[in-house]
Amino acid sequence: MKFFIDTANLAQIKEAHELGVLDGVTTNPSLMAKEGITGQENILNHYKAICEITDGDVSAEVIATTFNEMVAEGEALAALHPQIVVKLPMIKDGVKAAKYFSEKGIKTNVTLVFSAGQALLAAKAGATYVSPFIGRLDDVSTDGLRLIEEIREIYDNYGYETEILAASVRHAMHIVNCAKIGADVITGPLSAIEALLKHPLTDNGLAQFLADHANAASK
Ligand code: G3P
Repeated sequence: MKFFIDTANLAQIKEAHELGVLDGVTTNPSLMAKEGITGQENILNHYKAICEITDGDVSAEVIATTFNEMVAEGEALAALHPQIVVKLPMIKDGVKAAKYFSEKGIKTNVTLVFSAGQALLAAKAGATYVSPFIGRLDDVSTDGLRLIEEIREIYDNYGYETEILAASVRHAMHIVNCAKIGADVITGPLSAIEALLKHPLTDNGLAQFLADHANAASK
């Protein structure tokens, strides 16, 4: 399973990259705004800076909501760097744009997916990635992981190559459960990825090993 980090924060992207487990980055307009990145030139430069940190795919989301504008914006984003994946919203023109980019060999990530039907459409359009938002479904008392299972079953039934990119991942157990279900990729904050490290028995065990070693060495 691939690990993407879901942030536009360069320091956190570097930290995840240095851990050696980072396969790519996803961003969205809210994450860019959170870092204070505004203005077209700054936004494009920021995507380039992200591509310089990671070797993997970097999702850059269009702001446009009509087909022609999405194509123009997506082409400009894709031209920035070979690692850029054009992120498109799951609306009618977004599906059309996913088909357009797929035929041109440009990678896409269809985002804001909340149902199996939407994921089926994204695959039919030839999207590289589909992003079901599991945390936001959990927020409204709907099982986000169940959606991943449904999409996995549908894609496997027909051999769709669109990768299931579980998004809106909030914590370590989302990641573990996505791995059990067969999501191709997770994207989440650095905190969720680093939480996979943690176990008190590891910390206690290491403290004991080091204490025993120091004790023996002092004799
Ligand atoms: O990748 C989608 C993600 O950014 C949404 O996450 O935590 O805002 O629901 P969240």
